[in-house]
Amino acid sequence: MSDILDLFITRIYRTALNNYDIKINSDELETTCFSIAHDDVAGQRWCEENDYSGYTSYASLDDLPWRFPIFKDLVKALDLHVADFAEELQFDLGDRPLVLNGLWINILPEGGIHTGHIHPNSVISGTTYVSMPDGASAIKFEDPRLPMMMAAPPRKTNANTGSRTFNYINPNVGDVLLWESWLRHEVPMNLAEEERISVSFNYAWG
Ligand SMILES: [Fe+2]
Repeated sequence: MSDILDLFITRIYRTALNNYDIKINSDELETTCFSIAHDDVAGQRWCEENDYSGYTSYASLDDLPWRFPIFKDLVKALDLHVADFAEELQFDLGDRPLVLNGLWINILPEGGIHTGHIHPNSVISGTTYVSMPDGASAIKFEDPRLPMMMAAPPRKTNANTGSRTFNYINPNVGDVLLWESWLRHEVPMNLAEEERISVSFNYAWG
């Protein structure tokens, strides 16, 4: 059999948020997310007007790390993870590090979905998981070459993860996932009775 080279690999970083010295208490983070969602009337209105299932602070609050100490600590931890991933990706960033340019809360109720999207104007995007009750949606990633595949046959149902067109990752509370911002992803329907809570973010080349 010939040797096969794996080229143009799509890499996804998955690790425990608390792997570094900065520790984030997920219960405290959950309570803070609920309290922000409860008080953020502008955000609630935006979700209603835009048929957004559940709550996101995306359109209403752009300063969570300045308002809440736990989010400030979260960014300190994320900075380390993102720098780590950038190193793994062998980015040559020169003297311009990747810097946070967006961080927001997502609270997805039972039946809620978040359709396929990318994160424009960013380099690395990711999510950390705050509450993942039984049945909470995985995150679904799509092969970025899909629009070019035209006549390519489907993959076997038991194909290895590297060959699949779609991959589902089921994160645990306290996990952080990172990927390159051009990678299309979606959150399929949340089948958990309780809310699925996550905090998503973008990093740009400063
Ligand atoms: Fe996203």
